[in-house]
This record gives sequence, C-alpha cells and structure tokens, in this order.
Amino acid sequence: MTQNPRAIVRVGPGEPASDGAGVRLTRIVGTRGLDHVDPFLLFDEFGSDRPGDYIAGFPPHPHRGFETVTYMLAGRMRHEDSVGNSGLLIPGAVQWMTAGRGIIHSEMPEQQEGLLWGYQLWVNLPARLKMTAPRYQDIPPDRIPEVVEPGQRVRVIAGAYSGVAGAAQSLTDICYLDIETDPGSTFLLPLPDGYNVLVYVIAGTVTGNDPLGREVAVDKGKLAILGPKGPVTLLAGAERARFLVIAGQVLNEPIARYGPFVMNSRAELMQAATDYQNGTFAQ
Ligand code: CO
Repeated sequence: MTQNPRAIVRVGPGEPASDGAGVRLTRIVGTRGLDHVDPFLLFDEFGSDRPGDYIAGFPPHPHRGFETVTYMLAGRMRHEDSVGNSGLLIPGAVQWMTAGRGIIHSEMPEQQEGLLWGYQLWVNLPARLKMTAPRYQDIPPDRIPEVVEPGQRVRVIAGAYSGVAGAAQSLTDICYLDIETDPGSTFLLPLPDGYNVLVYVIAGTVTGNDPLGREVAVDKGKLAILGPKGPVTLLAGAERARFLVIAGQVLNEPIARYGPFVMNSRAELMQAATDYQNGTFAQ
C-alpha cells in the first residue's frame, strides 16, 4: 500500500518587515496572518544588495525560550554573544543557537556593500527545555553533508535525509534540508506523523497536492505548509528548482511571546523581562 503524499494545506508569500536596527526583510512566519507554525515561531528571509537595507544589522539583543537558526547564502555576518562565543557566517554556513534560559547577542553584517542573503528560523523549545543552558553551533559550509542523487542534490543541515545525518544537533526533532533539483525531478521525504512541514521555494516552482488530491504549484518566494500525515512529495517544474524543507515535531504547548522572549505563560514572560532589566538574564 502506498501512502498518500503529505498535503499542501496553505500557500502564501511573506510580508515586508523591519527588525534589528532597521534591517529590511521578508517575514514568512511570525506575521499577523501566520503567527506561528508549531514548533516554528518565526521565519525570515533577508536579501538585499542595497547596504542601506542591512548595514545597521542586529545590535545586542536578548533571546529566551527557543533556538535561532541562521542559514547564510550570500555575504558575511559576524556573531557575538554573552556566553563568549563569536563567529563569522559565510555563504553556505549555519549558526544554530540555543538561547535556552538566556543569551544576549549581536548579528552584524561584515561587509559594506554587495549582496547579503540568508534565512533565520526560530524553533520553539518545549517547557522542559526552555531554561536549558545556552549553546552555540557554528557550522562551516564544508561540514554540511550533501546527498547527491540522480536529478537532485540535498544539503542536510539538521535531521536526516536518505540515511545521512545533518550537521546541526537540535534539542527537538527538526529536519532542515536545502534541495536543488533538475526540471521534472521528484523529491521524496518520508516523515513520521505529527510533524509540521514548511516548504519555501527559492528558485523555480514545485508542485504538490492539496488535501483533495488536486495539484498545487508553489512558486519562487512562496511558503507552503504541509499537513500532518504522509511523505513529503514534491515535483519540480520545467526549470531547475531550489527549496528549503523544514520539518519539526509539533509541541502542542501554550505559547506566550513578547519580542525576543517566547515562554509558556505570561508570568514566565514577566520573569524574563525582569531578569533582563536586572542584568541577571545571561548568567
Ligand atoms: Co537574535
């Protein structure tokens, strides 16, 4: 018996937004219309060759209660945090930061001109891990495994694909893949039930099915959200396609969020704000 493909339940573009010290970006998850896709709290694309859009960067700011994942495609970004880590993100590199009980960090472009392009994802942590110790994984491009198959190439950032484990260690079950396919090629990823899946198309078009089995095309710059059951099955269109597939086990816990703090209750949010004001946040 073959399983039905995992259905596409929603397709849409992101929204223009501004964050940090005025960086212009596209917010794909974490908007008014799409607050979160459990366990994903936010998904941003930053991409511009106009220095005025990015040069101000993200000066020191706190996070508590989740993980941030930055994937650079072009340009260079310098990272420094209150735990004493620092690193330079170059094209193809990933930074997987567990904020846990608290981290204060900055993310600043290390270039005056040229294209800066990448993605930032916020991965929620369950209540039992929200106050875990902060951790930082700086993963250079050559440490991210690539699975090359007929008609496609898959970079395994986290989770696993075709028996190859990803470079990043995540605290919850997350799969993060960057896929390039030839025209007409089919990408297939078996996944357990109960995972939400984001598919973001970077180039070309991919096609899947809606819950009634009708074809749905997802073009460049659009996000598709897939339902909870069946293998991810996506067909590339007439051009080469590139897309991110990001899957995570649903947490089903209450979400209380205020800016850079994401906890389970309002009381925990107040505590985060108090700890930050008292200077006891990132100790
Ligand atoms: Co940050």
